[in-house]
Amino acid sequence: MTLEKIEKEIQGCQLCGLAESRTNIVFGYGNPGAKLMLIGEGPGKEEDIQGKPFVGSAGQLLDKILAAAEIEREEVYIANVVKCRPPKNRVPQRKEAKACLPWLWQQIETLSPKIVVLLGGTALQNLIKPDARITKLRGQWMESKSGIKIMPTFHPAALLRDPNRKKPVWEDFQKIRDEYKKIKGE
Ligand code: URA
Repeated sequence: MTLEKIEKEIQGCQLCGLAESRTNIVFGYGNPGAKLMLIGEGPGKEEDIQGKPFVGSAGQLLDKILAAAEIEREEVYIANVVKCRPPKNRVPQRKEAKACLPWLWQQIETLSPKIVVLLGGTALQNLIKPDARITKLRGQWMESKSGIKIMPTFHPAALLRDPNRKKPVWEDFQKIRDEYKKIKGE
């Protein structure tokens, strides 16, 4: 499988109700050879228009965080739990996430990243455990059965709402940076 093939397959997807109101499917974006993958919640207004993840205000902040951690956006791969914008940017419902997750699992399997960063509670709950709390689990490495290192941290949009979260996110990204450098052999 290739990411391109999965992206072709997803075109016209009608697996959940979000298909009705979307402008574009936001499949994912980045380096198909990325060792680091970031997973957010779902497209917002700007992402829906452009068809790319994290291009709005949360995306600009994410770029700054990545730059501070000496990571370039072009070297990573970014995707979301749901590929279509929930109306008024509401949190995706569990049934919407469940319908969409097989696409994300295929992306993860195909990309085969060494590190996955879960941006926010929605990614954490849908990928790890429905009752997991981001406030409790952020900053701690977990490992998947296949050996992928997983780090949950706050979503950049949460930082825009609450500046107190900047410090913990920076601490988390320092850990991510160090692990990523190790993997790259730097
Ligand atoms: N927030 C997300 O979770 N994903 C995006 O792509 C943009 C904003």
